[in-house]
Amino acid sequence: MISLTDLRRFKAEGRKFSCLTCYDASFAKALEVAEVDTILIGDSLGMTIQGHDSTLPVNIEDMVYHTQNVARANSHAFIMADLPFMSYATVEDALINSRKVMQVGAHAVKIEGGAWLAYTVSSLTRNGVPVCVHLGLTPQSVHVFGGYKLQAKTRSAADQLLEDCQAVVDAGAALLLLECVPAVLAKEVAEKFSVPVIGIGAGVDTDGQVLVIQDMLGLTFGRVARFVRNFMREQSGENAIVDAIKAYHQAVLDKTFPAKEHTFQVEL
Ligand code: KIV
Repeated sequence: MISLTDLRRFKAEGRKFSCLTCYDASFAKALEVAEVDTILIGDSLGMTIQGHDSTLPVNIEDMVYHTQNVARANSHAFIMADLPFMSYATVEDALINSRKVMQVGAHAVKIEGGAWLAYTVSSLTRNGVPVCVHLGLTPQSVHVFGGYKLQAKTRSAADQLLEDCQAVVDAGAALLLLECVPAVLAKEVAEKFSVPVIGIGAGVDTDGQVLVIQDMLGLTFGRVARFVRNFMREQSGENAIVDAIKAYHQAVLDKTFPAKEHTFQVEL
């Protein structure tokens, strides 16, 4: 089974790692067969599973249900579970809700924010919970941003994001996840910090890559985000789904995904 120590070693060795969202046992098994390195039980399940238009309606019971279903079926990957909207607004809530997902098989929790999470991160870490901090486009704050948009487009916004990363890393964050930021900034973050950095819409230079599994299987039915590649398009035959997941894993490892067309190229 892949551990945090392995992810740190991958980073030190320059070996990229793959991550996909997953919400059920069948796909968890497919990800195990394809040897995907890490799994995120994302609160994106609010959209992909529950049919909402944001992650805001997801609650901790939903996360527990899906985390246990995934964890039972995959003994290969490092498993992270999102703490959903408002479930970590106080440190006490963060501890109580992390306990719920960790006790059903998560190896880490992911929370969205910046420097203001430092005390939450250190409290969770001291209590045995590795924390991944999600920065950049943080979907739980969609109404603050006014939509799903590229973040940190100016030098001062990029410097603010770097300061936020520094604060949560100093507090003990085990991983960082950057969503929808300029590739040049994601590269800066991955080079500056020794913790593994996962990217989505953040270019090829982060240590790991994540996509929502429905997106990379072409189950998008509408506007497709720039950073998504449909790995089903190249497949045929009865193992097409597992083959597409294997192709994604390989493309991350050999750095052919994400390509320039999946990346936000902004000069800072
Ligand atoms: O919930 C989720 O799926 C996520 C990814 C988009 C990173 O947070």
